[in-house]
Amino acid sequence: MTGTDMRLRADGITVQFGGLTALDKVDLEVAPGAICGLVGPNGAGKSTLFAVLSGLLRPTAGTVWLDGEDITGLPTPARARRGLARTFQHPELFSGLTIREHLILADRMRYNRRRLWGDLVTMGGLRRNTKAERERIDALIQQLGLGPVAGRPAVGVPLGIARLIEVGRALAVGPSVVLLDEPSSGLDRGETEALAAVLRSASEAQGVALVLVEHDVDLVFSMCSTVTVIDFGVRIACGAPATVRSDPAVRAAYLGEEPVTPGVPA
Ligand SMILES: Nc1ncnc2c1ncn2[C@@H]1O[C@H](COP(=O)(O)OP(=O)(O)OP(=O)(O)O)[C@@H](O)[C@H]1O
Ligand SMILES: [Mg+2]
Repeated sequence: MTGTDMRLRADGITVQFGGLTALDKVDLEVAPGAICGLVGPNGAGKSTLFAVLSGLLRPTAGTVWLDGEDITGLPTPARARRGLARTFQHPELFSGLTIREHLILADRMRYNRRRLWGDLVTMGGLRRNTKAERERIDALIQQLGLGPVAGRPAVGVPLGIARLIEVGRALAVGPSVVLLDEPSSGLDRGETEALAAVLRSASEAQGVALVLVEHDVDLVFSMCSTVTVIDFGVRIACGAPATVRSDPAVRAAYLGEEPVTPGVPA
């Protein structure tokens, strides 16, 4: 696959904070439906790259492409309208709205913007659904595995469910790429597995490409189609999980192992 077939592509991203080079000519390629993991030690530059991809930070140099369009200068909402969605580590949930109603709001962002503002003023509007909307929301709730709790208020739910709502809201707007900022942080094993299953289904069934910035290395290596490793702002490896995992530079820099010098017994 050539670079132009990529959903999302970052070319030579450099970010300088004063004298500190947080990212140094970093490249990233995200194919349609791919699940790309972005890992690296603390301070490596992951969040900085995430901020550049999502439009929160303008890079010092380099270009971000979405479906072949240069989006480097576009703010986050303009990127979202072009199909680049993101999730937040601390989901913003509205008090007084159920889980289902949160998903309806996101769905109307895509399908019925004109009704959306009226619905926000008169919450009753969220309860009047068309058949097509009900079917879309039911399918999304099923995909998220939230059927048994969908009628509950969203505020106060366990973090694992809040993350699923967040992913559901991102998927409801019909994105081609979703950027996820440490989606597993604070979740227990069971919650992490539930989230991973939803992300896999979004990639496989809907062809949504995902970029995961993650501390949970096991999660990244088990579910990603490609893994990019950055260390001190430099991309040190990129490729299939098995190849990246056994890369000596990665083992040395990220997994805390001493590099093995050929010919020298360990
Ligand atoms: N706004 C900023 N101003 C100055 N320096 C910054 C700023 N944001 C990040 N940095 C520095 O840039 C480098 C990369 O930081 P970044 O937060 O991107 O790393 P990270 O890989 O996300 O780390 P972590 O795993 O701890 O979340 C660090 O040295 C950090 O101190
Ligand atoms: Mg970070």
